[in-house]
Amino acid sequence: MQIAIVYDSGYGHTAKQAQAVAEGVNRVAGASAKLIAVADGDIDWDTLAAADGIIFGSPTYNGLISAKLKGFMEASTRTAWVPQTWRNKIAAGFTNSGAMHGDKLNSLISMALFAAQHGMIWVGLDLFPGKTNEELNRVGGWLGAMAQSDEAPAEVTPIASDLATAAHLGQRVAEIAAQFRAGKA
Ligand SMILES: Cc1cc2nc3c(=O)[nH]c(=O)nc-3n(C[C@H](O)[C@H](O)[C@H](O)COP(=O)(O)O)c2cc1C
Repeated sequence: MQIAIVYDSGYGHTAKQAQAVAEGVNRVAGASAKLIAVADGDIDWDTLAAADGIIFGSPTYNGLISAKLKGFMEASTRTAWVPQTWRNKIAAGFTNSGAMHGDKLNSLISMALFAAQHGMIWVGLDLFPGKTNEELNRVGGWLGAMAQSDEAPAEVTPIASDLATAAHLGQRVAEIAAQFRAGKA
């Protein structure tokens, strides 16, 4: 069972979050994560068509997803939306930004709407808000995994709990995709 993680990252912080999501997916027996960076250019549409779930990720830039992730979304109209290739696949999302709030929710809403337009099934976080910087979901969102990066290099930030929150989302998506697949068999 494969879960694709399609993400953008201008400066490496969201890429770190994407890596954590992948680690969470890979914790689930029989699941494997496939990371696809939209900045790399050629999108492997066949891998996306074959995946059991797709997790979208983007830095929040100007209160929105990045232009590169939006470009990917627009390209998917012809390759996936018209043929309804992703219908009934599990979907989820994550985002990272400089401010603790930073209007991250808008990015996740865009991803969830995009997934809905593709007929996908959106999975959010099942975590209460963390009360300390060490707890999961310290940013306190439910629609997807959120992370906050200070103006430090990606080796330092986002912090461990934000990465653990991202891994939790990856694991949750893989577990739900496995249940969904078993239900269809
Ligand atoms: C063009 C641009 C716009 C940004 N807009 C926001 C914003 O709206 N809110 C916020 O909190 N941070 C904003 N930031 C900060 C980034 O979200 C932050 O640096 C993030 O860690 C970048 O992730 P990346 O390294 O994956 O590109 C912006 C950064 C850039 C370059």
